[in-house]
Amino acid sequence: MKLWRCDVCNHVFEGDLPPETCPVCQVGKEHFKEEEPKEHKPVSNMKKATRSMSYGLYVVCSRLGDKLNGQVSNAAFQVTTNPTTLAISVNQSNLTRECIDDTGFFTLNILGTTNQRLVRRFGFRSGREFDKFKNMKYGLTDNQIPYLEEAAGWIECRIIPDKTIEIGTHKIYVADVLDGDLLQEQMEPMTYDYYRKNK
Ligand SMILES: Cc1cc2nc3c(=O)[nH]c(=O)nc-3n(C[C@H](O)[C@H](O)[C@H](O)COP(=O)(O)O)c2cc1C
Repeated sequence: MKLWRCDVCNHVFEGDLPPETCPVCQVGKEHFKEEEPKEHKPVSNMKKATRSMSYGLYVVCSRLGDKLNGQVSNAAFQVTTNPTTLAISVNQSNLTRECIDDTGFFTLNILGTTNQRLVRRFGFRSGREFDKFKNMKYGLTDNQIPYLEEAAGWIECRIIPDKTIEIGTHKIYVADVLDGDLLQEQMEPMTYDYYRKNK
């Protein structure tokens, strides 16, 4: 039995041959590379503990001029209630980071357990390679920032520039909440744990 890793979403498939299509991101078998067998390294207790932290799952959307874009994010949380502020952590190399720096706004789209399709579309390839909003149903906030109509709901935010922190590979944005709506009241929110067990 061999191990095959998808070079788009990192899914690892076990079998003598790679699958015809990736079960996670649906790309063809040409994207699977055989994985060298790795030496088994024990996972430290610290890593086990940090991996057990729980998160929600979101798509952070923004724009760069006419280009609409977004990325999946688990690193998001409410900071204060009055006024309502929240924080997100975005990899410096992502197009979404460029969009947020350019406009100063983003929407946090709350994913439900039926939104796995949005994770596949927004979480594995950069918007530099393709148009993530093609054929996607979306609305625009008063500040012209897109939100996803398939998601459970959205929250519009304006970053607080002097509260932005760069930490190595990532940038943390603290932002004021301006607007929002719950689009699918019945939808069960998707946790990171649920996503991993059901992808
Ligand atoms: C489950 C999941 C959680 C993720 N969480 C984050 C996150 O919190 N911050 C981040 O910068 N990237 C996160 N990513 C990775 C980005 O979504 C991914 O790199 C995306 O392709 C960036 O797209 P962009 O270049 O179009 O902005 C996550 C991906 C997945 C699948």
